[in-house]
Amino acid sequence: MCGIVGAVAQRDVAEILVEGLRRLEYRGYDSAGVAIVDTDSSLTRIRRLGKVQELADAVNEAKVVGGTGIAHTRWATHGEPSEINAHPHMSGDITVVHNGIIENHDELRELLKSRGYEFESQTDTEVIAHMVEWELRSASTLVEAVQKTAKQLEGAYGTVVMDRKDPSRIVVARSGSPIVIGFGVGENFLASDQLALLNVTRRFMFLEEGDVAEITRREVSVFDANGESVKREIKETEVSHDAGDKGEYRHYMLKEIHEQPVALQRTLEGRLANGQVVSSAFGDNAHQLLSQVKHVQIIACGTSYHAGLVARYWLEEWAGVSCNVEIASEFRYRKSHVFENSLLVTISQSGETADTLAALRLAKEMGYVASLTICNVPGSSLVRESDMAYMMKAGAEIGVASTKAFTVQLAGLLMLAGAIGHHNGMAVEKEAKLVSALQSLPAKLEQTLAMAESIEALAEDFADKHHSLFLGRGEQSAIAMEGALKLKEISYIHAEAYAAGELKHGPLALIDAEMPVIVVAPNNELLEKLKSNVEEVRARGGLMYVFADDKASFESDETMKVLNVPHCDEFIAPIVYTLPLQLLSYYVALIKGTDVDQPRNLAKSVTVE
Ligand code: M6R
Repeated sequence: MCGIVGAVAQRDVAEILVEGLRRLEYRGYDSAGVAIVDTDSSLTRIRRLGKVQELADAVNEAKVVGGTGIAHTRWATHGEPSEINAHPHMSGDITVVHNGIIENHDELRELLKSRGYEFESQTDTEVIAHMVEWELRSASTLVEAVQKTAKQLEGAYGTVVMDRKDPSRIVVARSGSPIVIGFGVGENFLASDQLALLNVTRRFMFLEEGDVAEITRREVSVFDANGESVKREIKETEVSHDAGDKGEYRHYMLKEIHEQPVALQRTLEGRLANGQVVSSAFGDNAHQLLSQVKHVQIIACGTSYHAGLVARYWLEEWAGVSCNVEIASEFRYRKSHVFENSLLVTISQSGETADTLAALRLAKEMGYVASLTICNVPGSSLVRESDMAYMMKAGAEIGVASTKAFTVQLAGLLMLAGAIGHHNGMAVEKEAKLVSALQSLPAKLEQTLAMAESIEALAEDFADKHHSLFLGRGEQSAIAMEGALKLKEISYIHAEAYAAGELKHGPLALIDAEMPVIVVAPNNELLEKLKSNVEEVRARGGLMYVFADDKASFESDETMKVLNVPHCDEFIAPIVYTLPLQLLSYYVALIKGTDVDQPRNLAKSVTVE
């Protein structure tokens, strides 16, 4: 939520900052702004309502010069999207950008008003600017003023502060929102995500909770939450330079859908051997920790939660352990019971989702055997704070609608079922079958993507629809939920999902010719049950779209359009059947003319509660 970029350089940084914002636009896109100071302390601030392109045009026109600057792309929390609420915010010589939420901003606002400060915006961020300005009156350095301010702020934030009178440095504080520092030659940078800076450096340092850092052209000094000077490791990134580009594709989402065979190949590489899952895929001490597991508690949000729902079927059926799956925002606020020998698993593409992270922190005090995260972003908070990590290696996912992250998470979770099952009496042949099914995935997904053209044609039928219903049984009921989330998220068509057996308990009342019903129907032991549910819909005049195994013997007719999905092993069917639903939501959104990669009201990385 919100993207931040900063730079201290000798050259003009306007272009670097704006390009950084473009690459962070997935984090928020309702307004954007930049403030740049030149060596003579002249400051230019430009803010625009709308996407980064609006800002880019304004910055271009103004021909802004200066080597020290901060920039921001916003996802509104306090105060509507508007130019006045856009960052950077100012107080005297102090300029601030901020990501996150200051929970005690009302109280601080009153205090600052009593000190004579006037507020121009409705944001919580403006209190930071005034607080730093106030503290700097008595502090000897900007770092000290920021440290004193940080002590008074409650909530989760990453914030960057610049003093017009001293353009040689910027100061950044991290508490709950990610901040990465990028090292150049004679110039240094910072951002909410390394993606923003891949044009200018490949060397990064991740700040830890409570850190405050001072960045100059030649030096970066870091202080921990106690104000002690500390060293943080600098690492060369493995993220590819073009990770943030759309390439030949019209949208990131389409690119990411088509990247799935390669992403799956990458996630499997080196992790399957001799008919077994290599347990070190989950961390160095995973073999020993996983051998103790008798119960798994999964916590996640959104699409990642749906991956957890699928995994529950796998873990209970094949790994022989019980499993609970819960939405992080619920888990963190209720009293739950920890089963004996229970493993805590968090699932997250970003590794920074506020609710998931808070749930992990809470759970660590509760007596789980260990915590494991299935995560795509190296160095993210979830990875750093978990005992074990399965690094997804899906590559950067920019589209707000999660696609390749989901299928890669599923592959990681299927491996987890194999790795736990290995210690828990899973038959050798069964494990070998699971492994070979996983190995067949990249080719199978490639085959499935060939359905794109027929799905694009089918999408026309949804152009005038306002509601839809997704159905599946078993683990496919979670795939139906994921399909519904994708459709509603990017096409704004209301979509519900049900386990098909539940239809007769209420949702059947919704069925009429205006409500398309999407069914996922692999050839498994629940097929006949599913067919009965399909008949229930047909009998009520429903119009169905069935994604079915070619041996499932569904026939297209006036009430039902059948699209054949390549036959696959039951182990990987949830992964394979996800792709047609992703493609359907993409093509429906295209017809609807919505903003596919940046749907209204949303942001990619939800770092606020
Ligand atoms: O980064 P995470 O996987 O923790 O994100 C969780 C959800 O915010 C995310 O999956 C969201 O539901 C997606 N936009 C769905 O496409």
